[in-house]
Amino acid sequence: MTLPANEKPPEKNIFETILARRSVRAYAPDELDRNTVQTLLEAAVRAPTAIHEEPWAFVVVQNRQVLKQLSDRAKPLLIERLHRSHQTGGHVLDTFSNPDFNIFHDAGTLIVICAKPSGPFVEADCWLAAENLMLAACAIGLGSCVIGSSVAALNTSEVKAKLGIPAEFNAVAPIIVGVPSGETATTSRKEPLILAWKQ
Ligand SMILES: Cc1cc2nc3c(=O)[nH]c(=O)nc-3n(C[C@H](O)[C@H](O)[C@H](O)COP(=O)(O)O)c2cc1C
Repeated sequence: MTLPANEKPPEKNIFETILARRSVRAYAPDELDRNTVQTLLEAAVRAPTAIHEEPWAFVVVQNRQVLKQLSDRAKPLLIERLHRSHQTGGHVLDTFSNPDFNIFHDAGTLIVICAKPSGPFVEADCWLAAENLMLAACAIGLGSCVIGSSVAALNTSEVKAKLGIPAEFNAVAPIIVGVPSGETATTSRKEPLILAWKQ
């Protein structure tokens, strides 16, 4: 995807970008090109990282058939988890039971931020990289969404082997990215809960 100059999103400062980011769950069929994905990865690796370990590693999946298969692999695991935790009353079970539901919302690109499980801050580093990536995506007019519901499937040995995630790495933060097919409404937030402010 390379946006023509007249379709480029208006530039936003960082605060405007933070406010403009949404979890996008509807995508146009456009594919992202390698340069765009590289730009997002460059933003990801600029995140702060405990003891400068830079533990992150990336797996990019740009094959809709593979993503559909992965979604179909993930849904039974999610249903099993709902049953185990006796959460079978809500609409979530219906959604995951729907054969047409794609947990990746039909996006064409999944970026999985992975790391070797070593040390207490590895996952924190990956999530900071994830937010950098999503803000960068928003800044260049792309939508993104964390797909936490894919983590269990991504960490099965058969999916790791299929996607090329080495056994010693764990999938931490899976993020879909693509061209939004329309506007996404903003979600509400509670006021910051300030527990103490000592002066
Ligand atoms: C750790 C994590 C896991 C998430 N997993 C999913 C998911 O599996 N599917 C999905 O559609 N959205 C997922 N989301 C997106 C949240 O639903 C979304 O961030 C939240 O509703 C707030 O909306 P906003 O991001 O548009 O502000 C996840 C977000 C986080 C931080």
